[in-house]
Amino acid sequence: MADTQRTLVIIKPDGVQRGLIGEIITRLERRGLRLVGLNIGVISEATARKHYAEHEGKGFYNSLVSYITSGPSVTMVLEGPDAIGVVRSTVGSTRPAEAAPGTIRADYGLTVGRNLIHASDGEASAEREVALFFGDAPLPTYTRDIDRWILED
Ligand code: RTP
Ligand code: MG
Repeated sequence: MADTQRTLVIIKPDGVQRGLIGEIITRLERRGLRLVGLNIGVISEATARKHYAEHEGKGFYNSLVSYITSGPSVTMVLEGPDAIGVVRSTVGSTRPAEAAPGTIRADYGLTVGRNLIHASDGEASAEREVALFFGDAPLPTYTRDIDRWILED
């Protein structure tokens, strides 16, 4: 049985401005993932710089920080078996033009600088990012009655 994981997802400001919050959450929820954290707000520049610290020094770093702080984002934590990889594959490749049809970035996006959504890319980044955005908030642990129809024992 796959390990239960938690992963951080951000619906970036373009996703919020385009009215895609519901559609994006619906896709992730319909896969069977459980939502255990949810927030809306403008990400501060300091938090954005920390979140994307791995890209510091790259040509797109400053425009990436401006983009992610340009309006409210929806930040969430999703839980499920192999959730980190499952969410990454549901999101699609970084460049929407190269993303597989059926993925969120392919179905709603065109360019890398407006690719709608972030998802943690591994166990270490998921842990770090959940702590960065939800550090003080206790996240609920729960099961849903429907989980027995989604998750094998
Ligand atoms: P994310 O961290 O947002 O989930 O995206 P990712 O893992 O698929 O891609 P990553 O390489 O971590 O890049 C982070 C974000 O930076 C922007 N980007 N712009 N102009 C460029 O060449 C470029 N490359 C990356 C994108 O918004 C990307 O999601
Ligand atoms: Mg990344």
